[in-house]
Order: sequence, then C-alpha cells, then structure tokens
Amino acid sequence: MTTTARARTTASTVLRKPPRLEGGFPFIGHTIDFARDPVGLLQRAYDECGRVAQFKLFGKSVTLFTGPEAHESLFRLPDEVLSPTEAYKMMIPVFGKGVVYDTTPERMYEQLHMMHPALRQNRMRTYTDIIADETNQMIADWGDTGQIEVCGFFGTLTSFTSSRCLLGEEFRNEMSEEFARVYADLEAGIVPIAYINAHLPIPAFRKRDAARKRLGEMVSTIVERRRTSGISGEDFTQTLMESKYSDGSMLTNHEITGILIANMFAGHHTSSVTTAWSLLELLRAPDYYAKVCAEVRDRFADSEEYGFSAMRDLERTEWAIKEALRIHPPLFMLFRAAMQDCEILGYQIKKGDWVSVSPIVAHREDAVFRNALEYDPERYGPGREEDRVPFAYVSFGGGRHKCLGNAFALLQMKTIMAVLLNNYDFELVGDPITTDFERVVLGPKPPIHVRYRKGQRG
Ligand code: HEM
Repeated sequence: MTTTARARTTASTVLRKPPRLEGGFPFIGHTIDFARDPVGLLQRAYDECGRVAQFKLFGKSVTLFTGPEAHESLFRLPDEVLSPTEAYKMMIPVFGKGVVYDTTPERMYEQLHMMHPALRQNRMRTYTDIIADETNQMIADWGDTGQIEVCGFFGTLTSFTSSRCLLGEEFRNEMSEEFARVYADLEAGIVPIAYINAHLPIPAFRKRDAARKRLGEMVSTIVERRRTSGISGEDFTQTLMESKYSDGSMLTNHEITGILIANMFAGHHTSSVTTAWSLLELLRAPDYYAKVCAEVRDRFADSEEYGFSAMRDLERTEWAIKEALRIHPPLFMLFRAAMQDCEILGYQIKKGDWVSVSPIVAHREDAVFRNALEYDPERYGPGREEDRVPFAYVSFGGGRHKCLGNAFALLQMKTIMAVLLNNYDFELVGDPITTDFERVVLGPKPPIHVRYRKGQRG
C-alpha cells in the first residue's frame, strides 16, 4: 500500500473539505449523541458520510478517517503535525507532570521506549510463569463446579498479573489491597468531561489527584527500598530504575511512577476486557470453542509448563483472542490534534482540529474483513490472514504510536485462557451480553455469569 500522506501548509493547494455529519447543536455539536451512544454516532458518521466524516465533539471539530489507506496516512504523520500529546492531555493529572503527555514528543518517545528491555523475549518468559501462577491461584479453590462473574474475575486477575509484572512482587505481596483501591480511584477519574476540563472541582477529580499522590508514594517506597537494599527485580520498575535518558540522566521517582502508571492504564483494563470478550465469544461459538479446548488440552497433556514457547503453539487460541479484539477493540476511538494546517488523503485539516481513527468502525468494513460482522477466528489462518493488510487491523493502533505492549498483552491473554481452558469447561448461564458504553475503555457490561465444571481431558 502506498501512502499519500503529506504534511504541508494548504495555502497553495485546493483541498476538499471533509463531509460534515448532519445534526448536532451549536458549539457542543454531536457531544450529546456521543455520550448516549458513542459507537452509534461513529457508525452513523461512516454510514452517512463514508470513509471521511467530520462532526463536533467536546467543542472540537473531529474528522474520522476509515480504511487502511486513510489509517496509514494519518498514523504516519509526525507528532509535530498530528499530536497525541495534545489530544490526550486529559491524562496528565493521572500520569503526572513532566511525564508522557506532558512533555515534548522526543522526551515522551524516550520515556515510553525505555520499556523495551522489559518487553524483550527473555523477560517475556518470566512473565508467562507469573501469569500462569496468578491464574492458578485464582482457580485454586474453585472445586469441581461453580459460577463466576467474568468482568470482575478478569479485572481482579489482570490487576494481579499487571501489578506483579509491571510494578513488582512487593506490590502484589504487600500492597495489593491498597493498590486496588488507589488504582480504582485513578481510573474513576477518567471520564469524558475530562476532555473539556480535567481540573474541574468535582469529587471524581479530587479523588483522582489524591490517588495519584498516594501511588507516587507507594512506588517511591519500593524504588528506595530496592536502591538501598540492593535487591532487584525482573519487572518494569527495575527496568526504569536502570534506564537513562540520551543525555545520561536517570529518571526521577516521579517519572518512574508516571511511566508505570501510563503502562498500567494502557495495559490493564484493555487486557481485562479483551480476555473477558475472548471467553464470552468462544462460548457463543461452541464449535470453535471445542477446537480451542482441544488445542490447549493436547498441548498440555504431558506437561503443565505454561512457558513462552508453549504459548507460541496455541495458534487457534491466539486467533480467538485476535477476533475478540477485532470485534470489540477496547480503545474504540484514537485521537490526534492537528498542530498545523495539513492534508490527509486530499482532505483539508485545519490547525486546532482533531482527527480520529475508530478501530471498531474500521473493523466492520466488509471490503477489508470478509463478512466483517461475523465472529470468524479462522480469518487469521493460512490462506486468509486478513489482518496482514497493512493498517487494516488497528486494535493496537499503528505507526509511530502503535501499542508498545501488544506482544505482552497477547501473551498474557493467551496464558490466562490456556490455564483456564486446560482445567475447566465453561458455559454461559443466560445473562445478556452487551457493551458497557459508560467507560472510556469499552468492555462487556457486568454482570455476566459463566458456569464452570472441572474439564474432561482428551
Ligand atoms: C488488549 C490489550 C491492549 C490494547 C487493545 C491496546 C491498544 C493500544 C492502542 C490502540 C494504542 C495506540 C493509541 C493511539 O494511537 O492513540 C496503544 C498504545 C500504547 N500501549 Fe497498548 N494496548 C493493550 C495493551 C497494552 C499493554 C499490556 C501495555 C504495556 C505493558 C501497553 C502499552 C502501550 C503504550 C505505552 C502505548 C503508547 C505508545 C505511544 O504512544 O507511543 N498496551 N495501545
């Protein structure tokens, strides 16, 4: 696929104006429709205007671009032209001052890419052991039969796995209860009103700020203890403690905390809801569920070592997760702010406007994914590989800001599914399965119960 993305001033070129979506009110535009049914609004914009659609949200003009070519054009423009930092400013009180979205593009790039050593293959091996161990602990007292509420179950499990892999053993062992409270307060501070003003004097933001302060103290305690005792870990915290900026300076405790929180936020809820969807979608497709169970049970028939290489063998399991993620991408709308007048695919974008890619709308295009509305994990299999078209599958974004944790996330979700399906059979009990549109990260709406029974091996 070729790119026609060019960033330049538009004075001398005649460019098209993006088609505008009908309706909306002065200033707030389509914000009320968005608050009521965000995906409905985006889908309507696509249905009525096509692959380029403009509407107004939170007082901003937003142009939605859909389709692999448009995604590529948008994701390839540099931060100086299309800035994520400017669009995600609402996260600054959560991550902290001077960290990630409150710094220059170069500094942000350096900070986020300091995580690379923690995401290398040799580290991944240690994480699969941790994730399998945490999953086994969660099911240790399940007995032969019972019932779980899947959203709560995966929320708790992934908070244990993320806190242990990212923050370290100490958090998991000593601070997990307080950590869960503090983290919940931080998360509850991410509400759509923050796009307009993230510093309003409302209880949710006051709690968010107190939680950020406390989490900073908790991380500092761990960092200081490790520094003075000489004990180290194989986690993200240790990686950041040992990292240096290109000018040779080390990170402050405040920066370490902010980068860890950014990764927790990027990775925890997204993985939790995707694991829940992966199980729920499998249970709605009994034939494919049977194939995945057989794959898992065959692989672990002789040994229950849930290691990195074993996970590589679980290709049908991976397709199931990818398909759940295609149909239900938790980050359903990705934003950039135009820092200067620019052009995307011949359309004029004005300085100050926002542009967006919506993975959920993009993944519903039949022209890109055959029978796109159907759950069909085999679309990733040999001969089809529909996710191979560049910039078609955008659950993890694309380009310079593509998800840094995608391999870790897939490994984590696969390991959890492998341990569960190797030990138990599952079935739905009949709760309605719908999406929770009240959250910024979309997931299944609780409560959704699932019955389990000790599994019969092949
Ligand atoms: C199912 C799980 C996940 C999904 C669906 C997901 C999705 C995404 C998406 C769509 C983006 C791009 C955002 C944009 O372009 O505006 C992104 C960025 C990012 N993700 Fe993930 N993510 C997941 C898990 C993780 C995990 C586990 C980590 C860390 C361990 C992580 C770390 C990051 C970071 C640091 C970025 C920012 C990259 C940058 O701006 O340069 N993510 N993620």
